[in-house]
Amino acid sequence: MGSTGNIKQLVGYGVIDQVVQSGQKIGMGTGSTAFYAMERIAEKLNTGELTDIKIVPTSFQTTTELQNRGIQVYSMNDPQIGGQLDLAIDGADEVDPDFCLVKGGGAAHFLEKLVEYNARDFYVIIDESKLVDHLGEAFAVPVEVIPEGRTTVFRLLEQLGAQVELRQAVKKAGPVVTDNGNFILDARFPGGVQKATGLSVASAEARIQSMVGVLEVGLFSRGVNAVYVGRNNGSVDVLLPQKP
Ligand code: 5RP
Repeated sequence: MGSTGNIKQLVGYGVIDQVVQSGQKIGMGTGSTAFYAMERIAEKLNTGELTDIKIVPTSFQTTTELQNRGIQVYSMNDPQIGGQLDLAIDGADEVDPDFCLVKGGGAAHFLEKLVEYNARDFYVIIDESKLVDHLGEAFAVPVEVIPEGRTTVFRLLEQLGAQVELRQAVKKAGPVVTDNGNFILDARFPGGVQKATGLSVASAEARIQSMVGVLEVGLFSRGVNAVYVGRNNGSVDVLLPQKP
């Protein structure tokens, strides 16, 4: 049996070893699984096994992790990036059978989505506890709201069938304040997003995104190239979506 840390390391190292090549522009995700992808890429840059990699981080946490390892970071707006990436790598909170995701457990889903929806290829790294039949039932869907829109969006999400909570900070009084200075509403959908809203995941994503006051919702329906799943027995499965 692998420990959780070992499983995350297996998928984080595995994806770097299998998909990253010198010269690429890469979006780097946020969280405890993405941490191992960063560790591996730093190791390969230090040994010279990888060269000329430009990395766009998806949060303050990822920025500091990379900078502490001496890796220069870029923004999507940097002329050398030009708003487009070769690939992005990130963890997820839930993955459903259609390879749609819930993200935003670390409240970083705005920048994660900007980066990952503008990458040609997208690879997800998870442990098997993240595989679910229905998104948003066990793990609430994070919705980043501009503070002034908090009450309005709370009410609109309830009308859509969600049970909503304002995410509270740890080691700080009051709500979580995101990297963008906003709040997070966690929206749990009894029976899952599709059952509770009567919408597909993509339509629910668009509906929530269109609410005035929402910066971004943590439903990701863009599709993925592969999901690396670390199993409790220490093996890694690479799940590939069916080609249309
Ligand atoms: C942060 C995210 C993370 O990718 C997600 O929460 C998974 O994190 P971890 O790998 O630590 O379980 O979406 O906003």
